[in-house]
Amino acid sequence: MPRGGPDASCLDRLLETDRLEYLDRESAGDEDLEARKRSVVRALDWTGQVFGHHEKFAKVALDEVADVADPKILELGAGHGALSRKLLDWHPSAQVTVTDVEPASVAAIAASDLGSHPRAVVREMDATALDAADGEFALAVFALSFHHLPPDAAAQVMAEGTRAADTLLIIDLPRPPAPLHLVRLATMLPLAPVIPFVHDGVISSLRAYSPSALRALAAHAGPSIDIELRGGLFSPQVALARRR
Ligand SMILES: C[S@@+](CC[C@H](N)C(=O)[O-])C[C@H]1O[C@@H](n2cnc3c(N)ncnc32)[C@H](O)[C@@H]1O
Repeated sequence: MPRGGPDASCLDRLLETDRLEYLDRESAGDEDLEARKRSVVRALDWTGQVFGHHEKFAKVALDEVADVADPKILELGAGHGALSRKLLDWHPSAQVTVTDVEPASVAAIAASDLGSHPRAVVREMDATALDAADGEFALAVFALSFHHLPPDAAAQVMAEGTRAADTLLIIDLPRPPAPLHLVRLATMLPLAPVIPFVHDGVISSLRAYSPSALRALAAHAGPSIDIELRGGLFSPQVALARRR
C-alpha cells in the first residue's frame, strides 16, 4: 500500500522512498554512522523542547488516561525519553515503561535520571512484537516513529499496541497533499546532505502515512480495531486505536 493510502494520487505515490533513515541503519562497528544517529536523537530532543512537542504529546497522552487511577503507560520508540520524563513529571502516580528498539538509545535513557526513577522501567522493546501481556497497559504511545515502519510492520504495531494496551496512541508527522509536500521537501533537500537531522527529516516526510493509509493499516491489523484520527496537515497527525 502506498504511504498516501490506497487511493493516493500518482504524484503522491512518487513522493515516497524505501531508503532508510540513519536512525534505522545497522551501525555495528560504524562510528561515523553511530555519531550521526546520536546527533539525530539529540536534535529530536532539542526540537521537541523548543517547539513544545514533548509537552503537547504528554498532554494528549495524559488526556487519554485522565479517568484511570495509577495508569500504566508504555512508551515505544522513546528515542531520548523526554516524553516519558514529562509524563512522570506531570502525573503523580503513573508508571511508565520507557522503550526503544535501538540498544544505544535504551542505554542512554537508562543512564539518565529515568534509569533510577521509582516509577519508570527502561528496556529494549520492538513495537512490532511487544513483550507484554494482553491489556497490561492503559496506554501505549508511539511518537514520531510510526513512519519508520513499512506497511506490514506498521499494521503489526497497531495489532500489538491494541493487544497490550487499552488504547494505542500514535503521533506522527502529517503527510501533506502532494503539491504542498513537494514544497516542504524542496525547502529541506539542500541541507539533507550536510545535516543528519534534515537527512532523516526528508526521508521521514517521504515515509509519513496519510489519514487514509492509517485507516487502511488499522483495517489490515484487525477487523475489531477502531481508529480515530485528529490533527494532521499543519500539526502532528494523532491516531487513537482501540479494540472493540
Ligand atoms: C524519530 S525517532 C522518535 C523519538 C521520539 N519518540 C521523539 O518523539 O522524538 C524514532 C524512534 O523509533 C525507534 N524505532 C524504530 N523502529 C522501531 C520499532 N520497530 N520498535 C520500537 N522503536 C522503533 C527508533 O529507534 C527511534 O528511536
